[in-house]
Amino acid sequence: MESYPSISIVGATGAVGKICLEILKEKNYPHEKIKLFASKRSEGKKIKYFDQELLVHEATKSSFHNSNVVFISADSSVSLDLAPSAVDSGALVIDDGSAFRMKEDVPLVVPEVNEEDINYHKGIISIPNCTTTPLVMAIHNLKKLSPIKRIQSTTYQAVSGSGSLAVTELQSQTEQIINNEKITMSVYPHQIAFSLIPQVDDFMSDGYTKEEHKMINETKKILHDKDLNISATCVRVPVFYCHSEAISVDFEDEVDLNSVISTFKNSQGIKIINDGQNEDYPTPSFVQGKDDIYIGRIRKDSSNRKGLNFWIVSDNLRKGAALNAIQIMESAINLKKIPNF
Ligand SMILES: NC(=O)c1ccc[n+]([C@@H]2O[C@H](COP(=O)([O-])OP(=O)(O)OC[C@H]3O[C@@H](n4cnc5c(N)ncnc54)[C@H](OP(=O)(O)O)[C@@H]3O)[C@@H](O)[C@H]2O)c1
Repeated sequence: MESYPSISIVGATGAVGKICLEILKEKNYPHEKIKLFASKRSEGKKIKYFDQELLVHEATKSSFHNSNVVFISADSSVSLDLAPSAVDSGALVIDDGSAFRMKEDVPLVVPEVNEEDINYHKGIISIPNCTTTPLVMAIHNLKKLSPIKRIQSTTYQAVSGSGSLAVTELQSQTEQIINNEKITMSVYPHQIAFSLIPQVDDFMSDGYTKEEHKMINETKKILHDKDLNISATCVRVPVFYCHSEAISVDFEDEVDLNSVISTFKNSQGIKIINDGQNEDYPTPSFVQGKDDIYIGRIRKDSSNRKGLNFWIVSDNLRKGAALNAIQIMESAINLKKIPNF
């Protein structure tokens, strides 16, 4: 980055906020351009950043007067409460939560897919759900090979997708089971250690969950295709970091596997590990901490010659959240779409 906007991170003590700081560190972002915020509970905490200790402040409506960009990585009520005042103070808000994603005047952006949508922001840009981002990156590229008739996605989502309390819950349940103790549950409605839960977020009246609705609706918005046929089943699994997805795509035309592989290979932000014969494919433990999304198990659908099946793994806290948000800021700098900067 050649120039550095002044940024505020709301939710700096959370799972996404911590990774956001880690990525800024990797980019040598200057400490004097970063302000950290969280709830009142965290007021006065210090977070190490190179040889500095950055102080955490309580986020209030008047916190953002000197900020060019405000990242909000807290829950939706915090975004709804603070984002309008941040915009009024002249900042660009990049929001990680779902509060604004489907609003018409809020671009929902994955820079590799729809960077140009940044141009229509009115002060707020949202990042998609952490399962939507890798899916749209793959589909955006596959659409170049043939029109798509139908997409089905089944997810295997890490507990860090529910925030840092869920990471602690998986850790403690694992210890409790190993020690033959009674398990405690607070984040999830069922045991997550040594099990899985076919529910991510609350249920809707149609039998789908909110997470599945997010995946479906956000994919349509980002790809500018409201008629896209897409369905999803979202499952929480006892993995700490990285979401995996098994995807099936039905094309209008038969698509050659080599074209699929070379399309993915030439796509920004995508890496392939696709050597089943050598038991080589992406796994969460391999992908953790990596910026790219990883695709493998690429094969024809055995029930449809115009169908394709594949497997994606991506780090939900990096490309699924903090990294995508930072890349949006970098795109907004290039497009000169950060007010007052
Ligand atoms: N985790 C993921 O994979 C992921 C991916 C994409 C998007 N997101 C979205 O990112 C957001 C943050 O998720 P997370 O996983 O980082 O959650 P988290 O680990 O639970 O962290 C929540 C953060 O919000 C802060 N916070 C809570 N109440 C606040 C308030 N009233 N004012 C200011 N800050 C407040 C917390 O501060 P305290 O420490 O002071 O409580 C903490 O820093 C959510 O909207 C989530 O949907 C998450």
